[in-house]
Amino acid sequence: MKDAAIIERIAVVGAGVIGASWATLFLAAGLEVDIFDPADDAEASVRDYIATAWPVVKRLTPHTGGNPDAIRFFSDAGDAVANAQFVQENVPERLPVKLATYAEIEPRLVPGAIVATSTSGLMLSELQAGWTDPSRLLLAHPFNPPHLIPLVELFANEHTAPGILETAEAFYASLGKETIRLQREVPGHVANRLQAALWREAIHLVTTGVASVGDVDKAIWAGPGIRWAAMGPHTLFSLATGAGGMRAFCERFADSFHRWWPDLGTPQITEDVVQKLADGIADEWQGQGLGDIGEKRDALILDILEAVAKHRSPHN
Ligand SMILES: NC(=O)c1ccc[n+]([C@@H]2O[C@H](COP(=O)([O-])OP(=O)(O)OC[C@H]3O[C@@H](n4cnc5c(N)ncnc54)[C@H](O)[C@@H]3O)[C@@H](O)[C@H]2O)c1
Repeated sequence: MKDAAIIERIAVVGAGVIGASWATLFLAAGLEVDIFDPADDAEASVRDYIATAWPVVKRLTPHTGGNPDAIRFFSDAGDAVANAQFVQENVPERLPVKLATYAEIEPRLVPGAIVATSTSGLMLSELQAGWTDPSRLLLAHPFNPPHLIPLVELFANEHTAPGILETAEAFYASLGKETIRLQREVPGHVANRLQAALWREAIHLVTTGVASVGDVDKAIWAGPGIRWAAMGPHTLFSLATGAGGMRAFCERFADSFHRWWPDLGTPQITEDVVQKLADGIADEWQGQGLGDIGEKRDALILDILEAVAKHRSPHN
């Protein structure tokens, strides 16, 4: 398989939080979707998810003529992948479950089919151990929910067949996704490591009494978070000191960062910390339920995505 244009039928193996969202996006892009998930209520919950997410995903991809009913459910993983040119694997984040899934599907794949794993925390090298021939497997980590958030982190290594990474890039781009390539594997890939670094300090600021949970949240959403939705931190800093760009920024602020970095915290998520964060969220949202907060988040993300889409990408 060398051409994203010939991916017409896709298998979604594991259709929980991530798989159901991927399925919605694939359907909206006009693909046929075959699903395997052993949960008793999988079909009902995936259909519910699609019905809820459909207006949103169609608002983002209005040009495509997807059909929410172009979906089939299978009671066997092998049957689900047997006609697919591309498989998105989203089974639970446990190595034995992933490896057992690969053993089940590998003999049933069509020649040239690509298998992409959504794993957040496992590494491609560990997952390749589950294959007789690992050359068709690559890592394609989305951000939740994949039907809304554009980023997909890709990783392939020396065991991956030539062309697989490029085909996957073209395929995800055809769905409106923004891909990045990892040049070597690390736990947490790129974006989750960045989130982990930020959250570590956010917790430290709360637990050491510098600011409340609500104020740390505001320090991001009303501040750098708005800029980060537009452009990445390297570019933003290179714009921060006028015409001198990144070099001038580093000259001016290196001493500050060198003073701050050793002072950053390294908290542990103990029971006390969990309680403090949970209490802080309750104070911040004053009785509003998670459902309402989640709806607000999705509405804001949708508007932001539409604004970003007007500029196509920060580089254009
Ligand atoms: N939740 C996130 O924010 C997020 C983000 C990006 C990537 N991921 C990755 O996506 C994958 C799935 O995570 P999730 O959050 O959707 O988990 P989930 O628990 O919501 O969904 C997993 C689904 O897999 C099904 N399942 C269990 N055993 C299976 C099997 N043998 N074959 C097929 N399906 C099986 C379960 O019934 C469930 O519906 C994980 O690898 C995770 O790291 C998660």
